[in-house]
Amino acid sequence: MKTYQKSAELLERAKKVLASGVSSEFRKYNHPHALFYTHGRGSRIYDVDGNEYLDFTLSQGPLILGHSHPEVLKAVAEYSQEGQLFAGQHIKEIELAEKLNQLIPSAELMRFCLDGSEAVQTAFRVARAKTGKQKFLRFEGHYHGWMDNVCWGISTPSVEALGSREQPNVFPWTQGLPEGVENEFIILPWNDIELVRKTVAERGHEIAAIITEPVMCNNGCIEPKPGFLQGLRDLCSENDIALIFDEVITGFRLSLGGAQAYFGITPDLSIFAKAIASGYAISAIAGKYEWMQLIEQAKVIHAGTMNAGNPTVAAALATISVLEKEQPHERMFRLGKMLMAGLQQAAAKTGQAMLVEGMGPMFATSFTPIEKTNDYRDTLAADKAKLGKFVAAMHEEGVRVIGRGLWYISAVHTDEDIETAIITAEKVLAQI
Ligand SMILES: Cc1ncc(COP(=O)(O)O)c(C=O)c1O
Repeated sequence: MKTYQKSAELLERAKKVLASGVSSEFRKYNHPHALFYTHGRGSRIYDVDGNEYLDFTLSQGPLILGHSHPEVLKAVAEYSQEGQLFAGQHIKEIELAEKLNQLIPSAELMRFCLDGSEAVQTAFRVARAKTGKQKFLRFEGHYHGWMDNVCWGISTPSVEALGSREQPNVFPWTQGLPEGVENEFIILPWNDIELVRKTVAERGHEIAAIITEPVMCNNGCIEPKPGFLQGLRDLCSENDIALIFDEVITGFRLSLGGAQAYFGITPDLSIFAKAIASGYAISAIAGKYEWMQLIEQAKVIHAGTMNAGNPTVAAALATISVLEKEQPHERMFRLGKMLMAGLQQAAAKTGQAMLVEGMGPMFATSFTPIEKTNDYRDTLAADKAKLGKFVAAMHEEGVRVIGRGLWYISAVHTDEDIETAIITAEKVLAQI
């Protein structure tokens, strides 16, 4: 058994001044409680009790180059010497935008923000302003940040409670939401193009945007069915609707051009955050000129004191430069698939009904009788308590996985890391 004594003591101290001791709701749900870390290096992270973990959380995704990548740290340190924030422009900001423009199919024009949540809201504003319509269509189980109008459809008491597929019930994730905010969106199960087609036929005159994670990574890790993204693309083009790809997870992870380059479907607007800058606070709303020109013309206002500060821009440029130089995506797919296969074998050997689904650079494990999941409703068949036991037991053995069963592969994970994770999983699966 690991000891978490020092973390437990720090948590007690933190709780006196930080609400429940943390700065983000998700950090509460670590094993066995919120933990305090001292440092991270490469594929490893260390807590205050001296425990070492092989890290597949990558801090919820951003650390595509692993912890403390030397080239990122060097770029941040050097560029920060010149200043931190100018309330004005600087050269590297153009270089970064030029780079994204070159790599990402939809990125004709962009603005930088601080995180995914606010970039999503900016995209909605652009879509409403351009189309003159009010609602956005979104999908059950997709996470688009924690703001009022997207704080729905991500938690639910049961699959029955969701009701009909045509007109699902939605449940708020939090109290304190303004009345009527749920009228801003229409929600549907994902991966069902016929249902989207029917809804757009009936209500397209109200819909300004369709927003989707191109791969659903926030509940399970589910690929779009063949033709689904193209179907959305066609419907949006035909009905004056903005297609928004929320690439907060898929961006830089599936390819340097994101899921849109990987699948060959170009949205009107897209959101990038997480892996863009190795853990520094920068995101981008990028899009086709005909949409983004509303910001250019100041018909849509986007602002932010802290946007595109020197350290964050330097971190993004350095991260992308390493990715371009090392071209790790093929390796990340290979290692991810090797780990997925190893976990499946370990589950078969130990007689566990563990489903391993995803693309390689990210994938999810769940305990479920279902053989393939297509949408959020399918994921609700999984045994969450058992997943909790698995993730906790892996943690005890020094392998850190995101609590909802999501695994991220970085450019610095090695074949040995993958073997360690497989051996550990087999041991753990035999115990739980
Ligand atoms: C797909 C997706 N969109 C948006 C967000 C919100 O991004 P942020 O946490 O940077 O505000 C997240 C965060 O996990 C996400 O996974």
